[in-house]
Amino acid sequence: MVNEEVLEYLENLIPDRPQYVEQMENFAKQNGVPIMEKTGIEVLLLLLSMQQPKKILEIGTAIGYSAIRMALKLPNTEIITIELDEERFHQANQHIKKMGLDKRIHTVYGDALNASENIKKFAPFDALFIDATKAKYAKFFQIYEPMLSENGVIYTDNVLFKGTVARDRSELTTRRQRTLVRKLDEFNQWLYTLDSYETTIIPVGDGIAVTKRK
Ligand SMILES: C[S@@+](CC[C@H](N)C(=O)[O-])C[C@H]1O[C@@H](n2cnc3c(N)ncnc32)[C@H](O)[C@@H]1O
Repeated sequence: MVNEEVLEYLENLIPDRPQYVEQMENFAKQNGVPIMEKTGIEVLLLLLSMQQPKKILEIGTAIGYSAIRMALKLPNTEIITIELDEERFHQANQHIKKMGLDKRIHTVYGDALNASENIKKFAPFDALFIDATKAKYAKFFQIYEPMLSENGVIYTDNVLFKGTVARDRSELTTRRQRTLVRKLDEFNQWLYTLDSYETTIIPVGDGIAVTKRK
């Protein structure tokens, strides 16, 4: 979304991460695991460090990268994170244990669309981080928003989807892409119309929507 030159400049400004975290970044890159973009996670971590949530619910653990980054940034925060893919769930558990964070990061294996009863046991959450199937964002929001604490904030990643939401849909080659982009666009517009919430989209990384109770 920002041009390559600016992106490279911004990424070069980011301080080194712990070696194990950088190894996870390399693994994700080599194996096509869609972890948060470098500039995106920096902004998310900064916002979270200002908010200081006691408990975060993350939807979409993948291999545990963002959960680990959040736990390292927020040493007093508990993170509950749910993942649908069995292999990734096991990989996440291994990484979390290796980093000694298994007391504060609780992983749940399952589909977030059907896990509300299980997840409710951990509620309330001060932050909800939505980073799973983009076509289901509105559903995730509706299911888990009632579990937020009074000053809870919802962070949703990939809402600009490489800028495609702003593009003429006829330029998109596949029907699947067009449907996904339409759903994301509808989700973004819906967020902005909610009476009890205010939203802003930060065009960093792949686009992060920040939604807060009014
Ligand atoms: C973009 S990745 C998450 C990246 C991770 N948050 C990070 O930055 O390190 C999305 C993950 O969500 C998982 N996922 C997709 N739909 C899901 C669902 N309904 N419930 C739980 N996990 C889901 C996918 O298997 C995938 O691993």
